[in-house]
Amino acid sequence: MPNLTADFHTPAQSCRFFVHLKLILQYFKPLIPRDTIQSIIDVARIDEVVGDFVQLKKRGVNLLGLCPFHNEKTPSFTVSPAKGIFKCFGCGKAGNSVNFIMEHEKYSYPEALRYLANKYGIEIEEQEPTPEEKQLDTDRESLFSLNTFAQKFYTRTLHESDDGRAIGLSYFIERGFRDDIIQKFQLGFAPTAWDAFTKEALKSGYAEKYLIDSGLTLSKDGKLYDRFRERVMFPIHNLTGKVIGFGGRILISDKNKPKYVNSPESEVYNKSKSLYGIWLARNTIVAADNCYLVEGYTDVISLHQSGIENVVASSGTSLTTEQIRLISKYTRNITILYDGDPAGIKASFRGIDMILEQGMNVKIVLFPDGEDPDSYARKHRSADVQAFIATSASDFIAFKTRLLLDETNNDPIKKAALIHEIIETISIIPDPIIRPLYVRECSEIMGIAEQTLMNELNRMLRKKVQKGTPKEEQTEVIEPAMIAPPQEPVLDIADCSAQELDVIRVLLHFSGKMAILKIPGNEPGQVVETPVEVTEFICNDLRANQITFDNPTFQKIFDAYAEGVDNQKLPDDSFFLMSADQEVAAAAINILSPKYELSPGWEEIKIHVPTEEEDLEDTATRAIFSLVHRKLSALIHKNQVEMKELPSDSEAWADHLSRDIYLKKARNEISRRLGRILNA
Ligand code: UTP
Ligand code: MN
Repeated sequence: MPNLTADFHTPAQSCRFFVHLKLILQYFKPLIPRDTIQSIIDVARIDEVVGDFVQLKKRGVNLLGLCPFHNEKTPSFTVSPAKGIFKCFGCGKAGNSVNFIMEHEKYSYPEALRYLANKYGIEIEEQEPTPEEKQLDTDRESLFSLNTFAQKFYTRTLHESDDGRAIGLSYFIERGFRDDIIQKFQLGFAPTAWDAFTKEALKSGYAEKYLIDSGLTLSKDGKLYDRFRERVMFPIHNLTGKVIGFGGRILISDKNKPKYVNSPESEVYNKSKSLYGIWLARNTIVAADNCYLVEGYTDVISLHQSGIENVVASSGTSLTTEQIRLISKYTRNITILYDGDPAGIKASFRGIDMILEQGMNVKIVLFPDGEDPDSYARKHRSADVQAFIATSASDFIAFKTRLLLDETNNDPIKKAALIHEIIETISIIPDPIIRPLYVRECSEIMGIAEQTLMNELNRMLRKKVQKGTPKEEQTEVIEPAMIAPPQEPVLDIADCSAQELDVIRVLLHFSGKMAILKIPGNEPGQVVETPVEVTEFICNDLRANQITFDNPTFQKIFDAYAEGVDNQKLPDDSFFLMSADQEVAAAAINILSPKYELSPGWEEIKIHVPTEEEDLEDTATRAIFSLVHRKLSALIHKNQVEMKELPSDSEAWADHLSRDIYLKKARNEISRRLGRILNA
């Protein structure tokens, strides 16, 4: 039974994690010089970068293939060499070369850049590491190297020594492990002698310091001896398949000795961040969009033998937030495989709440009659194991509701406690759209009115808010629509983001095109058509009105266009799509890659753009006016708020009043002209 409870994190704790994460992200701001980043992005051709992982076929101006980010049979993954971006119409993922590598290889931004630099032979001038960093690197390298040496030693002992074969190998064979599986998991055997491994390692030149640091060797009274003796060995690997530690299983049953001895934590082995089997599972987890979670080493191995590879184990420790986050890099879906014993399952409920808290979906498979995944897999054919797991997975919340409901025996008091417990779990789910769906399902299972449960949920959410849930979570909890009775959402008058976005969208889509301004001529009724380039029109107009963007990324994009207007050299799409500034690139990719832009036959499917393109004066004016209108509203509001604080006989109050009148007049004028456009 996985012990998921011990590491239960409160919201406050996970908030602290957020803070750390921010620090970490800051720390990892690329040390790569910006012009190097740009030259990497410039040479990294999207079709070549993607082509290393996805088979692409030419389709018009674009390339088409099967999406590597979700499971699909007909290709909807599109690559545009011209724009330097990819977009999947199945799952919606889009980005440039760097984003592709980050997503596909689960690399950080600097890691992805290094990968591309390496692929294209670009040299990165790394900043010289500090002596401490150098030492840490050496330590880690030495530990990796020693662990690999140990793995090879144990594996050799398993296959080549008499004891290894007679005790270790025969044990694995008796358990039904196939040869290829023993190889794949690099299983081994630790000899019986006190210090066989330590001696061998010292002889091969490994320093005593690292033998002790890795935990492979223990030191007592000045003597060195092996931690693992007469045990079968399960090496533990990190994400990239390097050995970071071991679990050693005893072969006799001896109540005085632990069944498993494990490596202690070290510079390379952090238990709360490791998952047994992840290095072999990660690709299959992505492909299956699901991760099976089991308890032990042998469960992982047996399932692999049955053809199920998207499986990891938390290996005896309670599941941690870091482990959940590691899984969530690959999928939002976790299926926990239990050896069904209700007491044990109930003990892990609080730990599962932690998974829900991360916004993941949890399913449960219960094995019959005390079987665990390993024993079940040993007794059944692969196809049957796969079918059993696929068909018996049930949603966690429904499962929990049924299990607890069974226990209430219709006792009303117990039932009330059950409602409380279930709703508590639902309230943990961060997605406000999913919560009511669960409320409905549970109301059906329990035979309790949906509204009753909804009220309880809202009460609980409100209580959480009052308790001072960290800010980051508050925004998710106080969804106005989620707190009954439904209230009008309060619009933030100062929020101009939609209008700012629209201006940037028009710039990105139509920059370089001509808008025909219709200006009244000298004669009555005469209209003079004057062509103006869109960027020039928008930039000059907004600058004349001293409009700035609240969103710093939009401001950067705007500034680049404005500069282009001044220098008479407008930036093109790829200037933004392939910008070294990640935020600028992401914004441009989001705006430029909606369906009509990049779909396989996008020549034919331009739906939205042409109508806007027909009258670019309208389009640009509307975007400008909407933004100005919004900014004016924000100013008016701010002015009024200030005014309330002022004594009404003061000069400042009078100033504010005339300002109010002026701003409102301006806004009315804009409204009038905007209305004319909208009603045209
Ligand atoms: P299990 O006792 O279920 O072991 O513990 P298992 O892996 O299924 O092994 P078999 O099938 O009995 O041979 C589950 C996990 O808990 C950890 C190990 O990671 C084990 O895989 N564990 C268990 C320990 O770390 N120490 C122990 O003493 C027992
Ligand atoms: Mn077992």
